[in-house]
Amino acid sequence: MEKLEGHNADDRARAIRILSAGGLVAVPTETVYGLAADARNEAAVRRIFSVKGRPLLDPLIVHCDSLETAKSYALFPDTAILLAETFWPGPLTLVLPRRSDCLIPKTVSAGLDTLAIRIPAHPVLRALLVDSKIPLAAPSANPFGYISPTRASHVIQSLGERIEAVLDGGPCEHGVESTILSIDGKNNIRLLRSGPIPIEHVSKATGHKVQTGSQANPAKPEAPGMLASHYRPRKGIELFPEKSWPGKCEEATATVTLSRPKERSTEKNIFWLSESGDPTEIAHNLFDLLRKLDSDSTFSRIRVEFPSSSEGIFGAVQDRLSRAAVSPRS
Ligand code: TXA
Ligand code: MG
Repeated sequence: MEKLEGHNADDRARAIRILSAGGLVAVPTETVYGLAADARNEAAVRRIFSVKGRPLLDPLIVHCDSLETAKSYALFPDTAILLAETFWPGPLTLVLPRRSDCLIPKTVSAGLDTLAIRIPAHPVLRALLVDSKIPLAAPSANPFGYISPTRASHVIQSLGERIEAVLDGGPCEHGVESTILSIDGKNNIRLLRSGPIPIEHVSKATGHKVQTGSQANPAKPEAPGMLASHYRPRKGIELFPEKSWPGKCEEATATVTLSRPKERSTEKNIFWLSESGDPTEIAHNLFDLLRKLDSDSTFSRIRVEFPSSSEGIFGAVQDRLSRAAVSPRS
């Protein structure tokens, strides 16, 4: 695997050559690192699924350079235009009806009549998209079901020699994946995955209520990333409610808190996601800390403080922690 420097124009040109030839490049986004291929190249897209061990039934997001490009692949009802103009470039994915003349093979969207699209804000990925004009199909660059990568080193650890290159753009700003909304032809908005853009902001921007909650058929999730078990460390995690300390911890148990615990911060098995409990910082550090503890042989168990609030980005933190805590067999 080649390690390329995202802020270096020659290295970005190298990444574009690899992608044009059908190769796979892990790219930085403002949410998490993505495993990218030319979305128009069916063979390259199939390799994404095989490298991740991801079922072909789980559709991918297409990353575009502009709204104009996005409109050539999907239909944009009025509400979608409003959302695109308000939140793009940024951590929002829209699931929209596919256009009948869409040039992206249906393998990308798992045969569905819809397509997930996002215009990312990360400057390195934006430069790549604008310079190459290649629409990039990219799921998070982690083995299926494992914790998403928020640094180039995470990608190297878990996908290593299975891909051609990683383009290093530094640690990801948000640290949790994009908010996903589906918009149907009647402008109904439905939340498929919570993320950095809270639904309160979506309602405010559109004047429409966002539908949430249980789906019509839980056995067939609308967004398969909503499967109960996901983002899971190999050791598994246990959750405890905010501010309810689980007493003295055994040495082999790592305890993760939302803010620095005043009295017990000298204990070697206590880790905090933010000094002050700042929600943005907590989300930014979450996956990185879980990965570190998962690969630290000192610990056999990980316990994490579960935030009581679901406001703002805490909604996404609650969602990821709940899924990380569910055993794949349950
Ligand atoms: O922040 C993100 O969204 C990152 C970065 C790399 O952009 N990507 C990401 O991709 O999280 P992935 O594949 O790990 O999660 C995408 C989710 C999946 O749960 C998938 O099921 C859902 O999007 N999805 C994609 N296309 C869909 C569609 N047509 N209908 C419903 N859900 C869809
Ligand atoms: Mg993922």
